[in-house]
Amino acid sequence: MKLTVVDHPLVQHKLAILRDKNTGSKDFRELMEEVSMLMAYEAMRDLELDPVTIETPLTSMTAHVLSGKKLALVAILRAGLIMVDGILKLVPAARVGHIGLYRDPQTLNPVEYYAKLPEDIGGRRVFLTDPMLATAGSAVHAIDVLKQRGASQIKLMSIIAAPEGVERVRKAHPDVDIVVAAVDEYLNDHGYIVPGLGDAGDRIYGTK
Ligand code: PRP
Ligand code: URA
Repeated sequence: MKLTVVDHPLVQHKLAILRDKNTGSKDFRELMEEVSMLMAYEAMRDLELDPVTIETPLTSMTAHVLSGKKLALVAILRAGLIMVDGILKLVPAARVGHIGLYRDPQTLNPVEYYAKLPEDIGGRRVFLTDPMLATAGSAVHAIDVLKQRGASQIKLMSIIAAPEGVERVRKAHPDVDIVVAAVDEYLNDHGYIVPGLGDAGDRIYGTK
């Protein structure tokens, strides 16, 4: 398992605003999309390319275009949806899947309420999105679902991770690489990442 921390200054700057409790939902949503796009730039660095001959206005040349497996973006609902919205701006032809999970507030275990994935998910490179990797119960469950449906090349993208969450994914799914913008300090007694940014779903959608 490879852990990539995208600590580019633009990402750090936007993350600082996301973490600020005074940032409202509109800005929060926009920044989540922007950070996700910047992270996708790194997460997709190893996409395969094929040479093609093209004509520029001046001459012919060999250029490179994306090849290999098609892509699927899979959001863990609710909060992963906003990351998919951002990443789709870079790869608009990607198929999109949804896995609906919420954490039981007492046990912190994930409860699945929905799963709709592209039929050919097994033949696609999958980018699974969830902004918060806390206990990793949700991410591990979502990866289980993806593998049961045949997916074999999966990358997990989270904006903030707890060290405990990274470790749990590493143990449960050592073949899955993780891309994050930050690894924070610890999980509190309620399973929240500290310092974190609070409840991502509530901040995106203005609920609570
Ligand atoms: C949050 C968050 C992740 C999950 C992470 O979802 O968006 O999906 O918690 O926690 P974990 O790593 O401990 O599983 P939440 O349960 O609040 O549901 P929501 O997105 O519908 O608000
Ligand atoms: N889910 C969130 O939205 N935030 C956390 O800190 C942990 C889980």
